[in-house]
This record gives sequence, C-alpha cells and structure tokens, in this order.
Amino acid sequence: MQAADLSAAAEVHQQAFIRQKQSLQWLESSLNAFPRFLSFVAEEHAGVVGYILWAQKSGFRDQAVMELDQVAVFPAEQGRGIARCLIYESLPLVKQQLCRQGSTLKHIIVNTRADNHAQRLYRSALGAEVVATIADLYSADEVLMLSRDMDGKA
Ligand SMILES: CC(C)(COP(=O)(O)OP(=O)(O)OC[C@H]1O[C@@H](n2cnc3c(N)ncnc32)[C@H](O)[C@@H]1OP(=O)(O)O)[C@@H](O)C(=O)NCCC(=O)NCCS
Repeated sequence: MQAADLSAAAEVHQQAFIRQKQSLQWLESSLNAFPRFLSFVAEEHAGVVGYILWAQKSGFRDQAVMELDQVAVFPAEQGRGIARCLIYESLPLVKQQLCRQGSTLKHIIVNTRADNHAQRLYRSALGAEVVATIADLYSADEVLMLSRDMDGKA
C-alpha cells in the first residue's frame, strides 16, 4: 500500500466494516506505522479491490509473531479468491521484511467474529486453528486463531 492507495482502500474499509469509523485515518495511521504494520493492496484494472494489514506483535523479535490484523475486499468483489490471493502473495513479502530486519516468522495469530466466514479462509490459507473464544469482545464473540511454526512454510 502506498499513500496514493489510501482513499480507495478507505472505501473498501468503509464498505467492508460497517461498524468501524474514520476509514482513512485508520488505514493512514497503519501505513505510517511501517514496519510495525505492513500494509498491502490488491489491485484489479489499476483499482484497489482489497487490502491486508499485518502487525508485528510484542516488539521486534528474532522470531517474530505476526498478526493478520485486518483483511477486506470490496463487497462486490468478494467470493472470487481475492482475500486468499492477498494472504498468499503478501506473506512472502512479510517474510522478506522480517529477513531484512534479521528476523524469521514464528507464529501467526488472527482473530475474527466467531460467526465470520473468514475463519474458514484463515484455516485453509494459513492452517490456523481456534485456540480461544472471547465472549462479547467487539460486536459479538470473537475467536483467536493461531498458525504455529510458520518458519520454512511457503
Ligand atoms: C472475509 C473476506 C476478506 C473474504 O474475502 P474474499 O475475497 O471474498 O475471500 P475469498 O474469495 O478469497 O475466499 C477464501 C475463502 O474464504 C471462505 N469464504 C469466503 N466467502 C465465504 C462465504 N460467503 N461463505 C463461506 N465461506 C466463505 C471460503 O473458505 C473461501 O475459500 P473457498 O472459496 O475455497 O471455499 C471478505 O468477505 C470481507 O472483506 N469481509 C468483510 C471484512 C471482514 O470480515 N474481514 C475479515 C475480518 S478482519
């Protein structure tokens, strides 16, 4: 993601997350927080159709634990494999960034609403498993998922 992508990505955020506010500020502050946050967009016909945010957790570490902080796709473009593509194509770039800072990827954590179909995506694309459920966290129950021992995996 670059500064020029922000307004289009903010439109995706606004449409994908109806309860979340100040889309532009949310994404701009994430982009500005590099390398704490690593932000990528999916483009089609030179337009942004989705984005993914990764976060380094608990300090910069030799063995990094990354959080898939947020992924979103324009409602009209969902169900076409764009989110899966965002995960598959950004993960090697995340690993490259970790390598540049002398780190390797240890685990990935991700959370989502217990009733969100994103859970299936995280299980199939990352091998993530539910390790905890937190009742009534944001708008409903939230599952915390973990993908262990990512070093060496594609
Ligand atoms: C979750 C989201 C990012 C998925 O994006 P997408 O581009 O539609 O996802 P994909 O087409 O790559 O689908 C990948 C997998 O997700 C699951 N999935 C996606 N849409 C689904 C649906 N409507 N019902 C059930 N499973 C679904 C499936 O497992 C699918 O794999 P499959 O097609 O091989 O069965 C998108 O629905 C979205 O932006 N939702 C709103 C924001 C959100 O909830 N983000 C996640 C929480 S941070």
